[in-house]
This record gives sequence, C-alpha cells and structure tokens, in this order.
Amino acid sequence: DLGEGSDLEAVQDKAIRTGASEAHVDDLRQRFVAEFVGPALQAGALYEGIYPLHTALGRPLLAQRLCEVAEEVGADAIAHGCTAKGNDQVRFEVAAQSLSPHLKIIAPLREWELLTREDEIDYARAKGVEVEVSRAKPYSIDQNLWGCAIECGEMEDLWVEPPEDVWRMTKDPTAVAAGHTEISLTFHRGLPVALDGEVLDGVTLIDRLNRVAGAYGIGRIDIVENRVVGLKSREVYEGPAATVLHLAHRELERVVLDRETSMYKDKIALDFARIIYDGLWFSPLRESLQAFIRHTQQPMSGEIRVKLSAGLAQITGRRSQYSLYDEGLATYSDGDTFDRTAADGFLKLYGLTYRTVGRVRRRED
Ligand code: ARG
Repeated sequence: DLGEGSDLEAVQDKAIRTGASEAHVDDLRQRFVAEFVGPALQAGALYEGIYPLHTALGRPLLAQRLCEVAEEVGADAIAHGCTAKGNDQVRFEVAAQSLSPHLKIIAPLREWELLTREDEIDYARAKGVEVEVSRAKPYSIDQNLWGCAIECGEMEDLWVEPPEDVWRMTKDPTAVAAGHTEISLTFHRGLPVALDGEVLDGVTLIDRLNRVAGAYGIGRIDIVENRVVGLKSREVYEGPAATVLHLAHRELERVVLDRETSMYKDKIALDFARIIYDGLWFSPLRESLQAFIRHTQQPMSGEIRVKLSAGLAQITGRRSQYSLYDEGLATYSDGDTFDRTAADGFLKLYGLTYRTVGRVRRRED
C-alpha cells in the first residue's frame, strides 16, 4: 500500500482466489514518504520539468519490498505484470537486480500471446480474475499518495481531451465554485512538517493536501513525455499535493539558498528526476546526489502561504529564520542600506569584457 486508496482486504482476497498460496499486504506509506517522496521533493525532481514522478518513485519501493519478501520466504524468482513497452519493467527489474541479483525475474506479459489490452481484459475475465478495466474504459491507472497516472483508451489520440470521468484526485477546475482557501505550509530541512500550523506526519499531510487542493482542481497535467524505451507517450497525471508542495518548496529555496547553490540545484534537479524516471534509484549516483541535496536543505526551514483557487496555487507569503532576503538592501523607500556608490565600479569591471568586444566589432565594420 503506497496510498492508492483501494480496499486492501479485497486485494488480499483476490490474490488468494487467483491461486496464490500466500499474499502479503503491507502498509508502506510512511516508508514511501520518508525514503522516496521526501528526497524527491527536496531535490525538486520533476521529470522533463513537469511530472512529479509518483509512479517512478513507487516502483523501487515495491521492488524492494518484493525482494525482501522473496528472500524471507526463500523464493528463487520474482514476477511482475509490466508490459514490454513501459518504463515500469525497467524500474522493477533494475531495482531487483541491484538488491537481489540472484533472483530470477519473470515477466509473463512479455512472453504470453496477449497482444492488446483488450486481449488482456478477456484473458483475465476468462480466468475469473476480476479487473476494474473494461473494453469501454480500458485505462491503465497507477495511483499512490503522491499522484495518479492515467493512460490508454481515447487519450492515445493526442488531440483528444481526457474524458472528465478519468480524473480521480481532482475536481474539474472549470466547475469548482469561485472563491479561495489560503493555506500555510511549514518546512523543516526541506520537508513539510505542518499544514496550517498543525504538525502532521508526512502521510497525513500529503493526504490532507491532496483533498484540499484536489477540490480546487489543482494538479492536473496532460503531457507527451519521452519514455526510457524510446517511444513518446501521452500521459495524464494528477498530483494536487505534489504540485503545491513543489511550488512551496521551491519558493522557500528562493528565500534561503544563495544564488549559486540555488541555480546549481536546479540543474541537479533535472538529473535527479531523470535518474528516478530511468529506474536507477538504487544506484551510486542517486545516493551521491541525494547526499548533496540533503546538505543543501539544512537552512530549509520556514513557512510558505499559498492561496488555492480554481485550478491555481499561488504563493502569497514566505518567512524563514534563515531568510537571505534583506529588506534594507532591497527597499526603494526609507532605510536603504545598499551602497549605491559601489555600483559604478562594479559595472566598469563587469561590463569590461563587452566593452572590449564592442570596440573590436566597431573596428571590424
Ligand atoms: N509514464 C509514467 C511513468 O513512467 C506513468 C507510468 C504508469 N502509468 C500507468 N498508467 N500504469 O512514470
């Protein structure tokens, strides 16, 4: 359970009815937030600058737990239900190879003669395996606490708007009542610790924020993205809490991080997101980058106010004991402490290169 909100007893029953001799259902939500979502938020990890990576962050944990259980029960192989065309096979299999290299990996959907999603649905029905999908709604959905992805069906045509009934975490932003709610988010070392001043564990905070922001239709994403296996795909995502938290976290960084660290971190964020997306969570590079990112988060404590209205989250205030903003330096009113006389000499040297270039160019004309 990574917080997808489904009936876990039913999942257990279904596994046993489908022929499993044992089924393990574990609540991994705290671990998901502490070990995967938290570091990704601190990193500002958005794949291709936009996707908050909920699926890509969930897979390594599922693979890790799968390997743990396999070792506990003395299994010699693991299996997954990913197709040959997706990213998830990459994430499961690279994670499993890193953690339990001795386990054999079986991927039935890559071997069996089930060529289409419709074939898969028919096969499941024929074998008495209940599936939520149908030929009319053949969507592939992956949801957890951090977000939801919806693929397939009519959305494979890039020109077609996603039907309203595919959305699970967000209301239609064009149909929500006018008005707004203002929330405050408190961060400690780059992690959200309180909502409206109430101290909450990460799971509860994200869950609550999903509801509040989702009710305003915040966090809908509809993009074409580049998959690891070479193809482009249309992806429809929802992540109300992820959207608001990334926005707030980035704003706090603007206040407390020095310019060089802030800009360097922006570059690392893209790399970190790509490492997550590409299934390389359990890799030396992810560990090293995470150590750098964690270090940058030391002064990342403070509070961000965000106004939520139809489809929109907007920052309205920020404060931190580590703020590098100096009103005396910034003001254009009374109390200005900025040394204006220094600007003259600064510009003579800062512009020197371009003065030289300018002179040479004028001579060439
Ligand atoms: N494209 C997203 C990713 O690679 C989502 C994949 C899972 N989506 C799904 N509908 N099963 O992370």
